[in-house]
Amino acid sequence: MRRARPDDAEAVRAIRNHAIEHTTALWTQTPQSPAEAVAWLAAHLDRGSAFVAEAEGEVAGFAVHGPWRHLDGYRHTVEDSVYVREGRHGLGIGSALLKALIASARDAGHHVMIAGIEAGNTASIRLHERFGFHHAGTVPEVGTKFGRWLDLTLMRLPLT
Ligand SMILES: CC(C)(COP(=O)(O)OP(=O)(O)OC[C@H]1O[C@@H](n2cnc3c(N)ncnc32)[C@H](O)[C@@H]1OP(=O)(O)O)[C@@H](O)C(=O)NCCC(=O)NCCS
Repeated sequence: MRRARPDDAEAVRAIRNHAIEHTTALWTQTPQSPAEAVAWLAAHLDRGSAFVAEAEGEVAGFAVHGPWRHLDGYRHTVEDSVYVREGRHGLGIGSALLKALIASARDAGHHVMIAGIEAGNTASIRLHERFGFHHAGTVPEVGTKFGRWLDLTLMRLPLT
């Protein structure tokens, strides 16, 4: 586990784009370009809110936290994202990443961490429960992908 660096952008992009193409974890079907990936990661690096896990010399997963919503009244709340490379799920990598992410958000003085999870994503819900996130509600049919409606489960962890 280590903090992300600018040269992780391509590996992170590959993991994100796989999730965009094949899953309902990210609610878009537009893959990230190399330039967008550099800019996206740079914004997180500036905030010190990006981590990667390495396994056998490759980036096996990443985690970031960023603003949950952009109006300044939400400034003490962050939203997390954790993604593990296909083929390396279920090995504890997501847990290691989320643990580091929560510690960094606490160190930064944030008050609450939110996870917004597609309601059928049992792996992500279990991962977040494991770290003390509680269900804060499910909003039906606020997204769509692959020709069906998606429900958003919100989970909440108090940090301070
Ligand atoms: C969700 C994700 C990050 C979990 O990471 P991981 O490294 O596979 O998870 P871990 O091995 O650390 O396991 C964490 C917990 O989730 C459980 N879990 C993992 N995969 C699971 C699955 N497919 N179904 C049910 N539970 C699962 C583990 O058993 C463990 O719980 P436990 O401690 O009670 O045994 C990973 O599956 C992933 O990248 N999925 C695709 C992207 C995604 O959905 N990201 C989250 C978007 S909100």
